[in-house]
Amino acid sequence: MVPVTQSNTMAPILPEPISVLQDIRTSYDSVDLKSCVIAGLTSEPKSMPDLLLWDEQGMRNFNSWIQHQDYYPRSSELEIIHKYQDEIAQSLPSTLVLVELGCGSLYKTKSILSALACANRTVHYYALDVSEGALSDSLEELQTEFADRPAIKISGLLGTYEDCVKWLTDGASPCGLPSSTVCFLWLGNSVTNLGLSDASALISKFRNVCIGLDLQCSFLLTADCCTSDERLMKAYEPINGPSHTFMHHGLKTANEVLGWNVFDEKIWRCTVERDLDQNELIFRYRPAVNVSLDIGSTVVHVQKNEGIQITRSGKWSEKQMGWIADRSGFRIEHIWRDLKRNYCLYFLL
Ligand SMILES: C[S@@+](CC[C@H](N)C(=O)[O-])C[C@H]1O[C@@H](n2cnc3c(N)ncnc32)[C@H](O)[C@@H]1O
Repeated sequence: MVPVTQSNTMAPILPEPISVLQDIRTSYDSVDLKSCVIAGLTSEPKSMPDLLLWDEQGMRNFNSWIQHQDYYPRSSELEIIHKYQDEIAQSLPSTLVLVELGCGSLYKTKSILSALACANRTVHYYALDVSEGALSDSLEELQTEFADRPAIKISGLLGTYEDCVKWLTDGASPCGLPSSTVCFLWLGNSVTNLGLSDASALISKFRNVCIGLDLQCSFLLTADCCTSDERLMKAYEPINGPSHTFMHHGLKTANEVLGWNVFDEKIWRCTVERDLDQNELIFRYRPAVNVSLDIGSTVVHVQKNEGIQITRSGKWSEKQMGWIADRSGFRIEHIWRDLKRNYCLYFLL
């Protein structure tokens, strides 16, 4: 028997957070990432996978960046969620599975789950992310916060969006999803990191999996639609601006994944350009001199100032979101906007 030590001060008895973090990864391991880096560097135009930005340190860098006063997407999104959380909750059915894609630090999720609890919804919430440390920390915090709300069940899924499609297809069903309705929550303008075609393709995949399982499916997702050059540059400028540390971290991770110092950070910088046709900001690494990158299987030559795309952030119009909804088999049921009309939360049904 384990001896029990008594103390004079009675500590409050809190329920132990149950470990409910499921590793569903099939596609994200270092070998895959290395192949993706090599494939991107040997294609034209050159690119690298933006997953390089999202390791533990990357997540910390992102969380510091978004605290910056000029990073308007954070405050715009919070404004919408705080103002409309009850309306959002009312638009969802009485029992549902809520899967949050790329959940990050979950600070907005609390408001949405609280609103759902107040609206007497029964929810099994799954937080999905690729970043393990951040996911388990924020999940534990969320579980503690909702420990006295039995109608809100919280679990975590460690993996990519593609892993989540696969998990839903063949993994989620053994115990059966506890509802015939799944809503995918996709916050932080993350959908736009994929670009219009890949985003609509992924949303379609989720929808088709749900149709195959006879589940009703909806999306609640946010997209930044700011058009002011000044605002955008203040929030995103990567050379001396607030996104510098976050964007540059991809070079470090690329070196780690490739196994040696392929990118000498002293000669590389990250730049941003605005694509006015697609309404996107494109981030690229550019060397200050001609360089030859020895990536093991081959040597990649990069000209002075040539760009290697690392990520993009869409500033999609409502028309572009309408195109996405249409292409992926949804209709836009509702749009909640911030006062300045820089940012939208879409309900796709
Ligand atoms: C822009 S952040 C948004 C985080 C959070 N949703 C928010 O609104 O603050 C993107 C998040 O998606 C995650 N992520 C990026 N690519 C992913 C992928 N392919 N699969 C799953 N998660 C991904 C990152 O780790 C990060 O937490």
